[in-house]
Amino acid sequence: MERSEQARAPWWQQSVTYQVYIRSFADGNGDGTGDLAGLRSRLGYLRDLGVDAIWINPWYRSPLHDGGYDVADYRDIDERYGTLDEAQLLIDDAHAIGLKVLADLVPNHTSSAHAWFREALSADPGDVARGRYLFRPGRGDGSEPPNNWQSVFGGPAWTRGDDGDWYLHLFDVTQPDLDWSKREIRDEFLDIFRFWYDRGVDGFRVDVAHSLAKDPELPDVDPDAQAITSGNDGSHPFWDRDEVHDIISEWRHLADDDDGDKVLVAEAWVAPDRLPNYLAPDQYHQSFNFDFLKASWEATARRTVIDRSIDLMRELGSVPTWVLSNHDVIRQATRFALPGADDPMTFIEAGIPVDVDLELGLRRARAGALLMLSLPGSVYLYQGEELGLPEVTDLPGEVLDDPIWVRSGKTIKGRDGCRVPIPWERTGPSFGFGDASPWLPQPASFGERSVEAQTGVDGSTLELYRSALAIRRQHLADPLDFEWLASDDDVLAFRRGRLTSVTNLGGGAADLPPGEVVLSTTPLVDGRLPGDTAAWLIER
Ligand code: NOJ
Repeated sequence: MERSEQARAPWWQQSVTYQVYIRSFADGNGDGTGDLAGLRSRLGYLRDLGVDAIWINPWYRSPLHDGGYDVADYRDIDERYGTLDEAQLLIDDAHAIGLKVLADLVPNHTSSAHAWFREALSADPGDVARGRYLFRPGRGDGSEPPNNWQSVFGGPAWTRGDDGDWYLHLFDVTQPDLDWSKREIRDEFLDIFRFWYDRGVDGFRVDVAHSLAKDPELPDVDPDAQAITSGNDGSHPFWDRDEVHDIISEWRHLADDDDGDKVLVAEAWVAPDRLPNYLAPDQYHQSFNFDFLKASWEATARRTVIDRSIDLMRELGSVPTWVLSNHDVIRQATRFALPGADDPMTFIEAGIPVDVDLELGLRRARAGALLMLSLPGSVYLYQGEELGLPEVTDLPGEVLDDPIWVRSGKTIKGRDGCRVPIPWERTGPSFGFGDASPWLPQPASFGERSVEAQTGVDGSTLELYRSALAIRRQHLADPLDFEWLASDDDVLAFRRGRLTSVTNLGGGAADLPPGEVVLSTTPLVDGRLPGDTAAWLIER
């Protein structure tokens, strides 16, 4: 992108998008589950925080077996969240205060409660209704799954129906995979996109954006290559197959035809060398930078990811994205202090108490936030990270809802620890989340971490985010301004116009370059930057 083109740069190249896990954000109707009424009542908070857009996790009608990633009707809102009319009001309210709204599309699978799947279950083999999903006879006498594919949530990726055939589900048994080789499926999803564009949605985060296409022969997969993050050459039987790009290009054309201002964001867990395929001009506009999320708390690893991300996006004529957490990974205020658990997908195991230094974790999470918010490009925040919320690691088995818990034979707790409802107030039975007990219990420590407890408090994590977002808006508008500065090995220092960002990921203190310190995540000591601390400086 040339400097002269910057004025025309699309909004999403500079935006900060706040991820709303709707079930856990704010409960407006007092049933213990977050909803649209709650979200509408808190839009002012998001405006004042200083974000540009919100991405709302699936809000569609769903049995919520996988937190709504099991969609029963893509054109309706789940009654626990509200109504279609309320969704319209939310979109309009958000637009009225300058916030864009991204919805979440789940195309790889439907819920088993979707009308199509119910029809498929009672249809004859060979029937069109059956062919929308991947039903196959079993191996041998039919009692063995058709192949060795494993569900991401544990156990086989096949379940046997009453008539003896098996159906594929790469995720939970209640999430049957659609057969995307069928034109009808493609048309249906184009229509779903149109349905929401017509209601004013500004784009979509696309779930498992690298799946959809399956090898038609459904061959066994190399057991070492089951994992969602495995790199490949486009021939893996179910992840990141080359055929997926033809499907995506139809979505992109539709988005561009709408008003040219829509954005499609890919949740694509693919190897770095495959990512450009997803960001070609007729593919997704953006993809979450999971390499940045996965990088350990260590300067060299992070510098490598930053360089690679910026170089790649310059080649593609775009700008990078940055993200440190979402509803699927351990919150960074815990993760950054978990010894040996750099992998954010390492879930908490049942029966093993998690002993982490939360003070250190929060200190690093705050420094990580300042680093991320000063990088060139757009940023995705996950609700609660602006409060420095830790992972809730001691949720008892009886409250766990993530299908990973059951599918792992109750050995892995799954992702509920990062989905605990947001504390808005210092006290009260749900810390202001709503009038009933929340669907997941909040720890007592959430009171002191609430919005109320942090608002206006100098040095609180919430005020740190607010200040950082305001300074970012004022000083970091040009995504082309980025220049590394010489620094110690443990330090990441770069200049963006008049602003210098310095993050010390080591233990010892570091010298600061010239400039007036406008923000620092812990106080300076004798003018030096302590370990696990970040600061922003402005040249006057
Ligand atoms: C990715 C989503 O982020 C996750 O929450 C969900 O369980 C899977 N896709 C399956 O839809």
